[in-house]
Amino acid sequence: MALVTTTEMFKKAYDGGYAIGAFNVNNMEIVQGITDAAWELKAPVILQASAGARKYANSVYLVKLVEAALEMYPELPVALHLDHGSSFELCKDCIDNGFTSVMIDASGKPFDENIAITKQVVDYAHERGVVVEAELGTLAGIEDDVKVSAEDSSYTNPDDVQEFVERTGVDSLAIAIGTSHGAYKFKPGTDPHLRFDILHEVENRLPGFPIVLHGASSVPQEYVKIINEHGGALKDALGVPEDQLREAARSAVCKINIDSDLRLGMTAGVRQALAEDPSVFDPRTYLKVGRANVKAIVAHKIKDVLGCEGKAF
Ligand code: G3H
Ligand code: 13P
Ligand code: ZN
Repeated sequence: MALVTTTEMFKKAYDGGYAIGAFNVNNMEIVQGITDAAWELKAPVILQASAGARKYANSVYLVKLVEAALEMYPELPVALHLDHGSSFELCKDCIDNGFTSVMIDASGKPFDENIAITKQVVDYAHERGVVVEAELGTLAGIEDDVKVSAEDSSYTNPDDVQEFVERTGVDSLAIAIGTSHGAYKFKPGTDPHLRFDILHEVENRLPGFPIVLHGASSVPQEYVKIINEHGGALKDALGVPEDQLREAARSAVCKINIDSDLRLGMTAGVRQALAEDPSVFDPRTYLKVGRANVKAIVAHKIKDVLGCEGKAF
């Protein structure tokens, strides 16, 4: 099967009360870890590349790596998505070069400007069979080089969503309900809770429409511990509680974005392998352990958080 768009994935996920995992990819080991798990569990999957990933690996390599995974698992439904596209030109480049889905993130711009740029991307994408995700509301955290402080973040206003979707023709919408990017989402000692009231209000205004949750890493403490026990310094790293992600997956949220958890798994594996045998200097020895962690994390998400095991066919 060639790469697919997210249209059918989202329809089934919406109706079935589960979500598709959208995992960030930056190198071969990450692509392999994710797709090995998705194949074993027969789960549809979205592989997404940020502008930072493109800068690091070069978009050509990323597209070819994803194509290689498809050659390994031809029956697996895989979408290739641009994460946080910041301009029409960047989205256009991805649309022209094999991506089946793009995000235009103009959430930091005024409402009408966000609508105008999103519509421009939608018009270009739809003519070429590519789908588009946009964002309303602003998440805190770091995406590429843009850092949004907690004070500058803002929840999505449910009053805006219907007009935004109608005027842009966008295919899915990322909303801000209290998640944030990175490994430091909540202060220790606080009680993290997502704004399900906002999510449900959005659902009421947009029946049947797929919602996207960014910043949805749960920051597994077992990996944070391994990192810290092997020379790392991740103090007070905290993520979204998994029961809240499960609840989100049962709702209109059809796509759940996970990057930080994979970074933690990869880093824990590499640190542990190097610490356990300081004589190692073959990258395969430690990258293999990182890749196995990525696979284990994705398998856990598919089975216990997203609920998309067995939904590939
Ligand atoms: O949304 C942000 C993702 O975690 C991508 O991060 O831009 O550092 O690749 P990155
Ligand atoms: P995390 O940092 O929580 O993994 O979020 C990733 C994300 O939203 C990518 O777009
Ligand atoms: Zn994001």
